[in-house]
Amino acid sequence: MGKITISTLDQMKTNGEKFVCITAYDATFARLIDEAGAETILVGDSLGMVLQGHDSTIPVSIDDMTYHTRCVVRSAPESLIIADMPFMSYATAEQTMTNATLLMQAGAQMIKMEGGTWLSDTISNLVERGIPVCAHLGLTPQSVNAFGGYKVQGRTPKEAKSILANAVEIQDAGASLLVLECIPSELATDISDKLDIPVIGIGAGPGTDGQVLVMHDLLGLSQHTAKFVHNFMDGQSSIQDGLTAFVEAVKAGDYPLAEHSYQ
Ligand code: KIV
Repeated sequence: MGKITISTLDQMKTNGEKFVCITAYDATFARLIDEAGAETILVGDSLGMVLQGHDSTIPVSIDDMTYHTRCVVRSAPESLIIADMPFMSYATAEQTMTNATLLMQAGAQMIKMEGGTWLSDTISNLVERGIPVCAHLGLTPQSVNAFGGYKVQGRTPKEAKSILANAVEIQDAGASLLVLECIPSELATDISDKLDIPVIGIGAGPGTDGQVLVMHDLLGLSQHTAKFVHNFMDGQSSIQDGLTAFVEAVKAGDYPLAEHSYQ
């Protein structure tokens, strides 16, 4: 498919073609995901849970993220690589510049941060300095303690209005991509329709421009999974086939279905 860039994703949004993102943390799985045709790979701070065994992403450090980013970029020549800024690594302007630089020098092509309006200046500063940004709204796992658990966000009209306003603001600040996690389907569709930038959903229904899942979840390796997860190893005989099944299901509009979505 050739190297995927943000322009590829913009074009896919314009054409109404769905794109796929899968998390990876090492070279072997990154190669399999790249070969399965996923347009983007997220080196997610979910590694705190699926690799390190923590019950949240909060213990993950910038050293963890740079290490795993370096592992992933070595074997994913085509997919666009996004790396997560971990908890508290972007609390101040100075920290943000230092830590985003470390991830880009590790080989990431874009960094991801959880938050909306409060990140506007940070996003503008990064973009002005050549660092593309993916923002993340809805259920932002680094704020699990503030939310009182992993709960669907945006269910009340007030919350929904706020998520939409935040999405518009981060786009205006210069973000290139947006992840929406665990929000009602209709809200995610509305935001995806209103924004020019591509929107990736996880537990956000079928109306977003792309879909992302944590690799361990889609391969049926996780102990506890949310309603939006489907085990793509069902009926498959290899990991490569399971990853390909996810990519094909998203592109065909067969995943996610109403049963994987919040109303
Ligand atoms: O860290 C991660 O894997 C993520 C996805 C769940 C979007 O942020």
